[in-house]
Amino acid sequence: MAKPTAPARALSPEGADDPALRPRNLDEYIGQAAVVDNLRVYLRAAKQRGEALDHVLLCGPPGLGKTSLAHIIAEELGVDIRPSSGPVIERGGDLAAILNSMGERQVLFIDEIHRLNRAVEEVLYSALEDFRIDIMLGQGPGAQSVSMPLPRFTLVGATTRAGLLTRPLRDRFQIQFNMEFYTPAELAEIVRRSGKRLGLRVTEEACAALARRSRGTPRVANRLLRRTRDFADVEGSGLIDLDIVNTALARLGIDQLGLDPMDRKVLDTIHSRFAGGPVGIDNLATAIGEERDVIEEVYEPYLIQMGLLQRTQRGRVITPNGVLHLGALVVDPAGSAIS
Ligand SMILES: Nc1ncnc2c1ncn2[C@@H]1O[C@H](COP(=O)(O)OP(=O)(O)OP(=O)(O)O)[C@@H](O)[C@H]1O
Ligand SMILES: [Mg+2]
Repeated sequence: MAKPTAPARALSPEGADDPALRPRNLDEYIGQAAVVDNLRVYLRAAKQRGEALDHVLLCGPPGLGKTSLAHIIAEELGVDIRPSSGPVIERGGDLAAILNSMGERQVLFIDEIHRLNRAVEEVLYSALEDFRIDIMLGQGPGAQSVSMPLPRFTLVGATTRAGLLTRPLRDRFQIQFNMEFYTPAELAEIVRRSGKRLGLRVTEEACAALARRSRGTPRVANRLLRRTRDFADVEGSGLIDLDIVNTALARLGIDQLGLDPMDRKVLDTIHSRFAGGPVGIDNLATAIGEERDVIEEVYEPYLIQMGLLQRTQRGRVITPNGVLHLGALVVDPAGSAIS
C-alpha cells in the first residue's frame, strides 16, 4: 500500500494551535458525545481494575480534537504521555527504545499513525498484542533474536486517513473512535469558552455566526475567533458582534457555509474544468495546484459532509447543491435544476 508523503505541516493549514484553548480534561472537552460517553466508561473500568487502558484508535479529519483527546486520556488515567508520530519513528529500533523507556500503564501517542513504515509496524504488532518485542542482537550468522518484555502500556493512535491503515494494525486497537464534525451548537459553546479564556467580549449572535462558518471544526472556530478579534481591535471597538464577524469573514473570503477560497476552488475546478466530473483525484490535484493528500484529508471531508461533492468509483463529482452554491445554476424550461 502506498504511504502518503505529504509534509505533515501542510495538513494543518490553520497554523499553530493556541495551547491556552486546548481542553485539558473530559469535562472541558465539548461535543463528540458518542466518543466521550463510552470513553468515560472504558477509562473508569481500566482504573477500577488497575489495568492499562486498551489501545485506542482515533480517526477523523484535521482539527477535530484527536491530539487533545489523546492528552486527555493520559490526564484522566493520571499517567504520563509519550507523544510521537508516524514519520518520526523511522526504524524498529527507534520504537523499541521508546517502548522500553515507558512505565506501566503509560500512554504512547502516535500521531499520523498511517504514516508508520512497514518495518516499524511489524515491531508494533507483537508490542501491542503480547507486550513484548523481538530484537536482533549482532549481525550475520551469529545474530540472535531476543524477546524483550515490555510494560503494559496503552497506545493511542490518531489518523486522518483510517483507510490507509493496514488491517493487522487496525485490528490491534480494541477501542476505535470515529470523530464527527461538530454541530453549530457545540462550536458556539467552544467559541464562547475560548472568548472567555482570551478575555474577549463576544455577543451570542457572533458566537453563533462563527460557529456556523467554521467547517464543523473547533480549530477553525478558534482561528476565526482570533482573526475576528484583530478586526474588532483595529477597526471596531473591541467588541466582537455580528457586524464585525461578517466584516472579518468577508475579508478572509469565507462564505456563508464556511467554505474558504480553496474549498470553492475545488468545487469550481470540478464544475468548470471537468464539466462537473467525475474527475480522478490526481487530475484534480494537478489542476488546482495542491497536493492530493491535502485535498483528500483537509478539503474533501467537509465538502462531502455538506453534500456539495461526492466521491464515486470513477472520481469526484460536484452535486447539484454544490453547483447551486457556486451560483452557477441554470434552470431549464421544465424548471428542474441542471448544471
Ligand atoms: N472537543 C473540543 N472542545 C474544545 N476545543 C476543542 C475540542 N477539540 C478540539 N478543540 C480545539 O481545537 C484545537 C485543535 O484540536 P486538535 O489539535 O486536538 O485536533 P486534531 O484532531 O489532533 O487535528 P490534526 O488532525 O490536525 O492533528 C485544539 O487546540 C482546541 O483548541
Ligand atoms: Mg493532532
